[in-house]
Amino acid sequence: MSNTSPIGIFDSGIGGLSIAKEIRKLLPAEDLLYYADSAYCPYGDKPAKIIKQRVFTVGDFLLTRGAKLLVVACNTASIISLDDLRQHYQVPVVGVEPAVKPAVAATKTGTIGVLATGVSLSGNRFSTLVKRFCLQTKVVTQPCPGLVELVESGQFNSPQAEKLLFTYLKPLLKHNIDTIVLGCTHYPFLRPLIQKITSEDIQIIDTGEAVARQTVRVLTKMNLANKQNKLGQELFFTSGKVKIVEPVVQLLWGDYTLKINVSKTFP
Ligand code: DGL
Repeated sequence: MSNTSPIGIFDSGIGGLSIAKEIRKLLPAEDLLYYADSAYCPYGDKPAKIIKQRVFTVGDFLLTRGAKLLVVACNTASIISLDDLRQHYQVPVVGVEPAVKPAVAATKTGTIGVLATGVSLSGNRFSTLVKRFCLQTKVVTQPCPGLVELVESGQFNSPQAEKLLFTYLKPLLKHNIDTIVLGCTHYPFLRPLIQKITSEDIQIIDTGEAVARQTVRVLTKMNLANKQNKLGQELFFTSGKVKIVEPVVQLLWGDYTLKINVSKTFP
C-alpha cells in the first residue's frame, strides 16, 4: 500500500456513487475502486448478520486490489458495521451517517425529517446521533422501502418514484419540518423529485460532500494522498448483473468518463 494505491468505495448498489462523485471532485488524482454489491441489494431489508458478512467480503475484495482506504458509502452498512470494520482492518475506514447535526444547525422550525432505510433508523448508531444532537430539535423519521430498488433500475424521475416519494413525504410534511435529511446514499439521485414534492422552502441535506471532505482529511493526516500530477482512474465492480448495473453507472458517472467498464465479481 502506498500513496498511489487506490481508494476503495462500496455500497449495496450504485447509491454510493453520490459519494464517489464528490470524492472524485475533491481528489482528481486518486484512483478509485467502486464496488456495487447489487446481488445483495437492498441491504435495508436484510438481517444485520448478512450485512456484516457482505461488508467484510467486499472489504476483503477491495483490499486485495490494493485499497489504501475504505469508504463505506452506505448508511445502512455504516450503522451496522463501522466499528467492526475499523477494528478489523489496518487501513483507515471512512463511514457515512445521516446528516442530523447539520440539519439541527439549519432548522428554524426546530423540527427535522430523516428519510433512511428501516435498518438505519432502528440502529443504535442512529439513536445515539439523535440523543447527542437533538436536545431541542424534534426528529420525525420515515423509512422508505422500495426507493433503493427504483434508483438501482435507473428510475430517478419515473411516475412510480414520484408516487412512492409522495407516500413517504406526505406524513413528514404534516409536521412543521423545514429540513429533510437524505439518510441513504441512493436518495440524492431522487433529489429533484423530492424538492418538487416538498416545495422550495424545505432544505434538503445529504452527506456526499462532507464524506468527501472527511476522506481528504484522513488521507492528508495519514500522509496517504496521491500527489501525482495526473487524473485518476475508476474501476467499477459489481456482484450483480453487469447488463443492469453498467447502464445506470454510465448514466450517473457519465460526466467524468466516457466509457464505463463494470466487471462481474463473485465474492
Ligand atoms: N445506499 C444505502 C444506504 O445508504 C442503501 C441501503 C440499502 O441497500 O437498502 O443506506
